[in-house]
Amino acid sequence: MNNKLIILSMASVAIFIISCNNSKEKKNPSDEMAISDNYSGKPMTHTYDAKIDSIIGQMTLEEKSGMLHGTSMFTTAGLERLGIPELKMADGPLGVREEISRGSWAPAGLDNDFATYYPAGAGLSASWNPELAYKFGFSVGEESRARDKDVLLSPAINIIRTPLGGRTYEYFTEDPFLNKKITVPFVVGMQENDVAVCVKHYAANNQETNRDFVDVQIDERTLREIYLPAFKAAVTEANAYSMMGAYNKFRGEYLCENSYMLNDVLRDEWGFEGIVISDWNAVHTSVKSLKSGLDIEMGTPKPFNEFFLADPLIDSVKAGKISEAEIDKHVKRILQLMHTLKSMGSEERTTGSINTEAHFKDAYDIASESIVLLKNNTDLLPIDTSGIKTVAVIGNNAIKKNALGGFGAGVKTKREVTPLEGLKNRLPESIKINYAEGYQERYAPKKEAIFGEVTQERVDTIDELDPKMLEEALNAAKNSDVAIIFAGSNRDFETEASDREDLELPFGQVELIEKVLEVNPNTIVVMIGGAPFDIGSIKEKSSALVWSWFNGSEGGNALADVLLGNINPSGKLPWTMPKSINDSPAHATNSFPGDKVVSYNEGLLVGYRWFDTKNIEPLYPFGYGLSYTQFEITKAQVDKKEYSKDDVISISVDVENTGNMDGKEVVQLYVSKKDSKVDRAAQELKGFEKVFLDKGQSTNVTLQIPVKELAFYNVEKSNWEVESGTYNFKIGNSSRDIKAEVEINVK
Ligand code: BGC
Repeated sequence: MNNKLIILSMASVAIFIISCNNSKEKKNPSDEMAISDNYSGKPMTHTYDAKIDSIIGQMTLEEKSGMLHGTSMFTTAGLERLGIPELKMADGPLGVREEISRGSWAPAGLDNDFATYYPAGAGLSASWNPELAYKFGFSVGEESRARDKDVLLSPAINIIRTPLGGRTYEYFTEDPFLNKKITVPFVVGMQENDVAVCVKHYAANNQETNRDFVDVQIDERTLREIYLPAFKAAVTEANAYSMMGAYNKFRGEYLCENSYMLNDVLRDEWGFEGIVISDWNAVHTSVKSLKSGLDIEMGTPKPFNEFFLADPLIDSVKAGKISEAEIDKHVKRILQLMHTLKSMGSEERTTGSINTEAHFKDAYDIASESIVLLKNNTDLLPIDTSGIKTVAVIGNNAIKKNALGGFGAGVKTKREVTPLEGLKNRLPESIKINYAEGYQERYAPKKEAIFGEVTQERVDTIDELDPKMLEEALNAAKNSDVAIIFAGSNRDFETEASDREDLELPFGQVELIEKVLEVNPNTIVVMIGGAPFDIGSIKEKSSALVWSWFNGSEGGNALADVLLGNINPSGKLPWTMPKSINDSPAHATNSFPGDKVVSYNEGLLVGYRWFDTKNIEPLYPFGYGLSYTQFEITKAQVDKKEYSKDDVISISVDVENTGNMDGKEVVQLYVSKKDSKVDRAAQELKGFEKVFLDKGQSTNVTLQIPVKELAFYNVEKSNWEVESGTYNFKIGNSSRDIKAEVEINVK
């Protein structure tokens, strides 16, 4: 056996290197569910604390308050007299957003604020590759510095509770383990560039509908096991320097004035030392917010002195409702952050770089590992260019750009390679492309969404095909050797501030796809989107089906490379694709979107946990994704018969590339507990590793699973608890494709 192992993911190596450079003592070090990989972030610096105290001693109350609220759309006040700069922020998750005017949401209209557009969150997590998450974080961190930012409002890591969520494309996954394994390296990579992440949206912001006021009710165990692990890991492992307080309420209190979530959990339990920044217009009180743990209020246009942490706060201090010492505490944190980021001039700071070929390459690398091959029954893929003369390229998504769009933050970029351009770049010149748009993105007259008063009301799509466009598409398909349809959604349709109403594909696409398939069976269907759609009939009728994402500046090139076999696809779905929306947990339990209150009635059974526990067949399962080659996973073995609670379990399997092409596979480990004293999901992801194997090559992959990772959250004891007994470890290449199993015992 050839034991050459090329490890792409560090998800399970070097777990012994715990975030030991975090000098701050945690309340309960033993209760840590997660043991770190070799990604750990530096804690905030305290070298300048005495200096900071002296600076604060020289500030007026008004000057202090200026640091606690937005004095422009994306900055807080600086103070030249004492050498304090403004704290400069920018969105976001897809790359550094264009400059916004100081006093309104209008773009500033500059010509030097272009940036690299990176794949959206769901694409990154579909790579199942923590090294790429680190690369993404580092790369966008460099861009943030080149744009002179202190805080980038990223990453967005809320759990995908419903496939209809407007920000599903932006978030990572439905699974808490994958979520933290992508979040931690991302945060570490970004902050290595003297720029702070702002991990958002803390917390339980899992829907856009009524996000401004909906009161989310989640039981404590579910909160701890599903919704918080990635936020916690961002703090305890990656040392995230800032968090964004979400819009919504949690158990009756707005997140920006929720003392339980901000003071008790975030600071006291996890040891968070950074700052909490509100989402834009998410603050409702002065004294209560500040006392509950908020540090900075940001918002949407109104006179900045009217913000809760501006004049009203100053009045509250004067009226004796809050002490100036309390204000000083928050100012001190902000100054500590500034020193940590080296923005106060005490130490040399990185200057970054932007729009470089290296960064476009980073975006390409992420995109090329994110694309998921869903079906390839007749080996239509990869396209064999030697046997063809013409390719029909059909669909609005072949030419649609997604860097900007919708309600959410986008990126102004000089480069966004569309799928059509990608094919033109990659196909031999001798092959003729017949392009036909086929369907168009069309909406009924719009109801303007009003920022800050967002409801779920959506514009209606126009779903009839234009007969002439349909005819053009069918002619292109008929007259070409191969047809490729680029369909799916876009960032106007999937968008912040509203959730989708259903899983339907808009704009008449299903009809178009079905008709094209009838005239040319050599049709490859490529879906581009960030969230599940009803593609049941397309799955049935097509023989080649690919899923791609809002995939960044180089998305079109990466996609063309996958279609042509220059890249062997290795993406895996980071969420479950249901057959029907009513199969999904939040919908099956009739607990979405709620009205003033939303109770997460499915409890722990989010995503595949529901489907697997209730034996519901999904359209495509979590973790699913094919390759142009085949892998065999065999012989699961563990290193011991019995483990104690502080042990790390080594579980190894043989993986062999038995096909004809080099490729990458994600080895996934799911754990079930027999006869548990508590309710548990049928299985839970507890480890994974992405490996590269040449054709014919085999390797032995070892996953290291800390026994603590098997813990459940014991609500009565307010702590994590590992149950003794037998656990079933299942290894496969999707949650529904288990290839090898082994039992382990915990004492
Ligand atoms: C979003 C945040 C974003 C902020 C600033 C809010 O509407 O929820 O994710 O960072 O706006 O643009």
